Amino acid sequence: MSWRATVLTLFPEMFPGSLGMSLAGRALERGDWSLEARQIRDFGTGRHRNVDDTPFGGGAGMVMRPDVVDAAIEAAMQGGDDRPLLYMTPRGRPLQQALVRDLASGPGAVILCGRYEGLDQRVIEARNMVEVSVGDYVLSGGEPAALVLLDACVRLLPGVMGASESGEEESFSPNGGGTLLEYPHYTRPAEWNGRRVPDVLLSGHHAEVARWRAAQSAAATQERRPDLWAKQTGFAAAAHAAHV
Ligand code: ADE
Repeated sequence: MSWRATVLTLFPEMFPGSLGMSLAGRALERGDWSLEARQIRDFGTGRHRNVDDTPFGGGAGMVMRPDVVDAAIEAAMQGGDDRPLLYMTPRGRPLQQALVRDLASGPGAVILCGRYEGLDQRVIEARNMVEVSVGDYVLSGGEPAALVLLDACVRLLPGVMGASESGEEESFSPNGGGTLLEYPHYTRPAEWNGRRVPDVLLSGHHAEVARWRAAQSAAATQERRPDLWAKQTGFAAAAHAAHV
């Protein structure tokens, strides 16, 4: 059984979107993974198939009804489904490569995309949803967030990423327990608009290249992501303490 993604959305036409192209698209055609986008409105109430209502307690905007969303989930998962149910929301757990790796190594995912101001809290709890955020900013809906999550997962599936990009060295791969940003990359021409490629990369000294790249990774992480650097040095300190 290949990796299965089901997306519950009010805008199924947004899928596969960018995932129908490039690496993910070719993998989709090959059957390395599958994608099904289901219309939540099919489970709406009344003649107008309403999916939302005004918030109890007042306030702006509309809230997605728990009964409607639950019916859409039930139809998609049909009782027995071992895939995790994710709800894309800025209130969720920040998406990181560790969660991506976990999801990619499982059977797939069912992803609920919200619109309007939110989703009734009771169905989040009753369905044990894993709430996931793609960053500290607000999108107008969960769909672009679902595309981001799926892209990150699919490229890790066996056979999807080219052999040339094993993913071992990229940013956020575990290295010694922590995480560093990747070093900068260069290709031909060796000089472009008066800018030269760093000499060490043209030297052919593999050990020196590796040392230079490690130093670049460390410097970029310290400067751009002090939060990641603190984690990294924390790991290093813990590893050192364990050895003495
Ligand atoms: N829906 C709206 N904003 C979002 C975000 N930042 N992450 C995930 N889902 C969202």
